[in-house]
Amino acid sequence: MPPADTSLIPWWKDAVVYQIYPRSFQDSDGDGVGDLRGILRRLDYLKRLGVDVLWLSPIFASPNDDNGYDISNYRAIMPEFGTMADFEELLREAHARGLKIMLDLVVNHTSDEHPWFIESRSSPQSDKRDYYVWRKGVDGQPPNHWQSFFSGSVWEKDAASGEYYLHLFSRKQPDLNWENPTVRREVYDMMRFWLDKGVDGWRMDTINMLSKPQDFPEGRPIPGTRLTEGQPLFLNGPRIHEFIQEMHREVLAHYDVMTVGETPGVSPAEGALYCGAGRGELNMVFHFEHVFLGDDTAERGKWSNPPLALPDIKRVLARWQTGLHGRGWNSLYWDNHDQPRAVSRFGNDREFRVESAKMLCTVLLFMQGTPYIYQGQELGMTNVSFESLDHYKDIETRNAYKVLREEHGWDDARILAAVYARGRDNARTPMHWSSAPHAGFTEGTPWIALNPNYPDINAEAAEADPHSVWHHYRAVIALRKALPVVRDGTFTLLDAEHPTVFAYVREDAHTRLLVLGHFHGGSQTCRVPAAFVDGEVLSNNHPVLEGAGTEELRLLPYQAVVLRAPTRTGVSRPE
Ligand code: NOJ
Repeated sequence: MPPADTSLIPWWKDAVVYQIYPRSFQDSDGDGVGDLRGILRRLDYLKRLGVDVLWLSPIFASPNDDNGYDISNYRAIMPEFGTMADFEELLREAHARGLKIMLDLVVNHTSDEHPWFIESRSSPQSDKRDYYVWRKGVDGQPPNHWQSFFSGSVWEKDAASGEYYLHLFSRKQPDLNWENPTVRREVYDMMRFWLDKGVDGWRMDTINMLSKPQDFPEGRPIPGTRLTEGQPLFLNGPRIHEFIQEMHREVLAHYDVMTVGETPGVSPAEGALYCGAGRGELNMVFHFEHVFLGDDTAERGKWSNPPLALPDIKRVLARWQTGLHGRGWNSLYWDNHDQPRAVSRFGNDREFRVESAKMLCTVLLFMQGTPYIYQGQELGMTNVSFESLDHYKDIETRNAYKVLREEHGWDDARILAAVYARGRDNARTPMHWSSAPHAGFTEGTPWIALNPNYPDINAEAAEADPHSVWHHYRAVIALRKALPVVRDGTFTLLDAEHPTVFAYVREDAHTRLLVLGHFHGGSQTCRVPAAFVDGEVLSNNHPVLEGAGTEELRLLPYQAVVLRAPTRTGVSRPE
């Protein structure tokens, strides 16, 4: 068969993305806060790892109520992070190394310190009143009972006018009014401003929340899910696809960029509406079905941290793999700045930290889609357990603390245990560069405490150790790039109900791969389909493969193996 014409394949289908949370990545000026010149200093490290695109969490001016997800000037760099000249240099230096940069588009809301909101709030007659969502209350009460993602009502009463403004997140993050065409035009202009500088794409914050039903009806939580009052109504709201298609038409269609929408609460069918070929919307979305598994609003959502069962994780991921195959494109992730560390949640961050971090890498990166690696994931960084709540900075955690204590009667020990398992600061402690003080992150006082395990888990040690998690990531990234089947092939889940083995096959006209991931600290026999018995071992996170060449492998703790089946014409080769 002639080789496929790869010139038609968009670059982002071959890309591996690395997410940087700038505040916690690398400080260059000793103020304890990561910055752009710090990122610049680490570009060669990222290049050595083999990633292609850097997604920077917001770098724009912000009072930091939500660490930059509350923007007060979309066209200015946050002074703690540097200057526009620093950004332009970073972009140039990244491009010179063949790395692309993707920014975070946060346009569901601004900061309440954005001049638009200051003006909007100044009077009901203001020209900009309609930039935000203002409503009169009902009998002195807010317009409805929708719940904010950061606890409490989504409505804040403004003392001056007596009207309420909408904020799906904190009260310092008022929602923009997307019904207003002027607001949409302002957003598109701002997007062009960055794209014209040469930025390579956007990660779009909470993008499926832009359109709200304008009568703001009451809405019930959905039992058995994390969806609270109102969320079922404004996630994927009435005009959402019209808005995103307009954004595509006006802006995105004119640049060769990559887009990924953050879309909690979407199924594969809904996901395909955002990223389906020919829809004129986005390249891919982040769904949350695997990371929200079992979370139930009736049980305080994620804070009850229900146990995870591997068959459920497999079912969800397989549904997305097959649901989008040939229709859209998947994004692949375990970790980000809002989630606990993957090795702590899905692996074993104690005696099998290295093995399980490698296993999670293999299982994720051999699926179809664009993988996202969150800073420190390539080192197997773990969750942190600070001794008191005072060390936690995250607004979601701090607000939840009050509610869990005051409304639900949880004691401090119970709340801390929940925060250790699911709090967002697990991902936000500074990156571990070396065993130097503060892990080489800063020469000053870090804005948030470090995970005390940095003397053992750090980039310098990992690069020096050929058996580290880091080298496994590097090898797997290189392997997936050499194997078009990983980009193009079909996905078939094997043994869906097996409680500890995640097994799947990737297949195209040339190559068949069997991927096995053992999610357990014991040993486990595992039957191998006949086609793979004499397969070539392409990747293995243990030095041995027990039972190789037979129909029954014996998987060791957290072992991950990739086998390539021999073909009729000989062993298939990477093209
Ligand atoms: C999703 C972001 O990932 C999160 O960090 C932020 O708090 C909310 N959106 C609000 O912008």
